[in-house]
Amino acid sequence: MIKIKSDAEIELMRESGRITKQVLDLIGKSIKEGMTTKDLDIIAYNYIRSCDAIPSFLNYNGYPASICASVDEMVVHGIPSNDIVIKNGQIVSIDVGVIYNGWQGDAARTFLVGDVSEEKKRLVKVTEECFFKAVENLRNGTPIGDIGYYVQTHAEQNGYGVVRALTGHGIGKDMHEDPSVPNFGKKGTGIRLKKGTVIAIEPMINMGTYQVEFLNDGWGVVTKDRLPSAHYENTVAITENGVEILTL
Ligand code: MF3
Ligand code: CO
Repeated sequence: MIKIKSDAEIELMRESGRITKQVLDLIGKSIKEGMTTKDLDIIAYNYIRSCDAIPSFLNYNGYPASICASVDEMVVHGIPSNDIVIKNGQIVSIDVGVIYNGWQGDAARTFLVGDVSEEKKRLVKVTEECFFKAVENLRNGTPIGDIGYYVQTHAEQNGYGVVRALTGHGIGKDMHEDPSVPNFGKKGTGIRLKKGTVIAIEPMINMGTYQVEFLNDGWGVVTKDRLPSAHYENTVAITENGVEILTL
């Protein structure tokens, strides 16, 4: 069941979204080759706590960190580690969620570290574009299949694979609410998104095959062909006249 948010509730989610975005901005400024993904997790944790917010991922179904840090062929849910040293030329997807005054924000960016190849840069750029293609076509009453249609069309036109095993989601007082928001689909299908619906739209786009494998740490997701993958996510509210992106 989709929980429709009032204007006052969206105002509160705007605050959670703002903190979520600030964490990503801080990580974007901090990330450098030679750091570990655990270093980034500590930066995120400390910043979130300094805002009197709660890192929503920490202890979520036993997840042991405040961010997911997914390097190159890791699609999502990379557990930060002292053993994962970030290297020149890598792309690092950082996903973070915060709870502030009881309301959730969830967003992800893929950062370029040092001299990144043109082909990886293009993957990261197209992944962001996939999000915006979906959002440009989103308003009160849009069928949810349109989101997947616009993401998938843009990714596949660029020769990339769209991850299907994981989706975006509704968000509010809980990180994962209805509806599930696939990144593939057919235009004109599925439920119509109404004003007051808040969703996390999060294309996960692979340079090669769309297929993924799950690591035996219980979290990490990697591309089946071990080619790179990028992730871009924002928390988005459907409004009267269009959308408001709460984590930009
Ligand atoms: N942000 C992720 C999502 O969009 C969730 C991360 S899983 C967690 O669904 F366990 F780390 F929280
Ligand atoms: Co999410």
